[in-house]
Amino acid sequence: MHNKKALVTGGAGGLETHGFPTLAKLAAFLHACLPAGRGKQMFSRRLSSRASLVIMKNNLQKALVTGGAGFIGSHLVDALLARGHDVVVLDDLSTGKLENLSHVANKILFIQGSITDKVAVAKAMEGVDVVFHQAAVASVPKSIEDPEGTHAVNVIGTQNIFDAAKDAQVKRVVYASSCAVYGNAPELPKRERMLKAPASPYAEHKSQCEEIAAHSGVESVGLRYFNVFGPRQDPSSPYSGVISIFAKRLLEGEDITIYGDGETTRDFIFVSDVVAANIIVAEAHALIDHIFNVGTGIETSLNRMVAVFEEALGMKSHVFYEAARAGDIQRSVADIFRIQSEFGWSPTVSFKEGIEKLTHEG
Ligand SMILES: NC(=O)c1ccc[n+]([C@@H]2O[C@H](COP(=O)([O-])OP(=O)(O)OC[C@H]3O[C@@H](n4cnc5c(N)ncnc54)[C@H](O)[C@@H]3O)[C@@H](O)[C@H]2O)c1
Repeated sequence: MHNKKALVTGGAGGLETHGFPTLAKLAAFLHACLPAGRGKQMFSRRLSSRASLVIMKNNLQKALVTGGAGFIGSHLVDALLARGHDVVVLDDLSTGKLENLSHVANKILFIQGSITDKVAVAKAMEGVDVVFHQAAVASVPKSIEDPEGTHAVNVIGTQNIFDAAKDAQVKRVVYASSCAVYGNAPELPKRERMLKAPASPYAEHKSQCEEIAAHSGVESVGLRYFNVFGPRQDPSSPYSGVISIFAKRLLEGEDITIYGDGETTRDFIFVSDVVAANIIVAEAHALIDHIFNVGTGIETSLNRMVAVFEEALGMKSHVFYEAARAGDIQRSVADIFRIQSEFGWSPTVSFKEGIEKLTHEG
């Protein structure tokens, strides 16, 4: 855990070093110094494509996944089991479903309980090496309807997780933050160093989670997920991601309503890439930064999303446009240089491939 050595082969400019943190810092510094534009973009691409990082693995046998019955958490559970980890799930099944875990039911320890319950949290944390904290009320509208109740889960629950992780001497906590912390600030792409501007209770909660982590005394990594999509995202929830709702409506031949002109953009990332990001940051020996964007760096408009769906399904849809809703963020896209340069992680599933997987396998 504290051995900061890592081997970098084929790093940027052919550098080879045992001081990976130094290389990454140098790369980040150079990147920050470059003026925005083509040169900077080429530098990012060159570094991320050429840096083949061999990062030594931590010995993290036992993993706790909070919210492991949910959309992202259940995919994470699958990946951890495939890598031979012992997995404990703590989930109150408020939005998660046991059926998301039914295929691995005999391979995990499932604890039905809330992260607001300190006793349940302490039990789930026993003997755990690494925590993947996904549990949250993951909904902006719900946080506006019930700010107190959602604060209790998203903030107090997260405090409980970090307190218990400290008591149990957990080696690292990887937790789900959100691009919502950037709010409506117009600057694009969103960079981790930007000032946060949370514009909803949910965004404020995620911002507070980052503060809790920073002051917890536990080694932590916060991943600011952009718009995650993939199988098991619950389309029946009004709070679910736009893709799962559109997919369901299109498959059932129903009309689609787009608020605004459809040129609103989001950075959609397929769930398997988010899972891979969680695992790579958990296993990395050395950490330089503690907050990372997890997106693709590509803006996709809602109109393009509909077109890709139509192509994947071989059908035409009926789209109605209504007035844009107040408060909706117009454009969103991640700068992913930090996670690419520090860990060699890059998204592998294109938007089109993700939609095809969702419509054919999901
Ligand atoms: N899906 C996205 O696009 C996205 C984007 C940014 C951040 N996130 C974050 O990623 C994480 C996972 O989101 P998701 O999309 O899989 O949502 P999800 O609703 O499918 O998963 C959340 C899980 O947490 C569980 N949970 C909720 N309250 C709990 C509590 N009090 N105690 C224990 N378990 C509880 C739910 O039952 C569910 O299984 C969340 O922290 C969310 O805020 C998601």
